[in-house]
Amino acid sequence: MKIGLLGYGKMGTAVEAVALRKGHDVVCRICSSHSAFDLLKEVDVCIDFTEPSAVWTNLQKIAKFKKNIIIGTSGWQADLHKAKDLALKTPFGLLYSSNFSMGIHLFKKLFEHAKKLTEPFGFDVAGVEMHHHDKKDAPSGTAELLSGVPFASVRCGNLFGMHQIIFNAGDDTIELIHRSSGREEFARGAVAASEWIQGKVGVWTFDDFMEDVKCNLKELLPH
Ligand SMILES: NC(=O)c1ccc[n+]([C@@H]2O[C@H](COP(=O)([O-])OP(=O)(O)OC[C@H]3O[C@@H](n4cnc5c(N)ncnc54)[C@H](OP(=O)(O)O)[C@@H]3O)[C@@H](O)[C@H]2O)c1
Repeated sequence: MKIGLLGYGKMGTAVEAVALRKGHDVVCRICSSHSAFDLLKEVDVCIDFTEPSAVWTNLQKIAKFKKNIIIGTSGWQADLHKAKDLALKTPFGLLYSSNFSMGIHLFKKLFEHAKKLTEPFGFDVAGVEMHHHDKKDAPSGTAELLSGVPFASVRCGNLFGMHQIIFNAGDDTIELIHRSSGREEFARGAVAASEWIQGKVGVWTFDDFMEDVKCNLKELLPH
């Protein structure tokens, strides 16, 4: 598979390492200073890890090539309805998620189950998320996936992502915590999603992908 990377920072380089290890080619790497979008004519799929303000502008530039795209950038959801229209009309395949880790997909399911269990007993729910100080969006896109929970955000040093959900009723406290210890799990998820979207059109989420491949999760585990 020929991959075009939009964004070649911390995540773009992690995606490249995973893609090369799996035998794919990375044929172009586009950063903010690099505007050679025509190179994307040659690719099978684009993978975007840029920044929130870049996503919609870049999507319009690449739509003319009708290439499928995986969007991992977080914090751009204000433009999501326009992106969905564009993907359906053009058409091309678009899969987006603020978090491509298998762990967060499962964490979200645990949270939904815990919420259903604790709600009748009057538990109050709140969240805390921590990330490195360069992260541009707050609360994190992952926190927004856990809908209905108010989150406090901490930005500090080089911390990898941590999401904690606290359920409290009186003297009882239950906590769910997910910690990332590196970027590779996100990169593995993004590359596996770009393999999955080949030949598909329309708009998809990482949950759609996970539900489809859950019998074959070896794809997402470290080799
Ligand atoms: N979905 C997930 O699983 C997941 C996981 C981790 C992070 N993220 C999200 O992914 C995004 C990127 O994270 P990161 O840690 O890789 O950030 P980063 O290290 O700051 O890299 C961002 C990259 O985007 C490029 N860029 C900025 N504006 C651009 C534009 N207009 N067109 C093309 N490229 C542009 C930057 O180029 P320059 O260097 O030239 O400015 C840089 O290469 C963030 O939104 C982050 O929250 C998502």
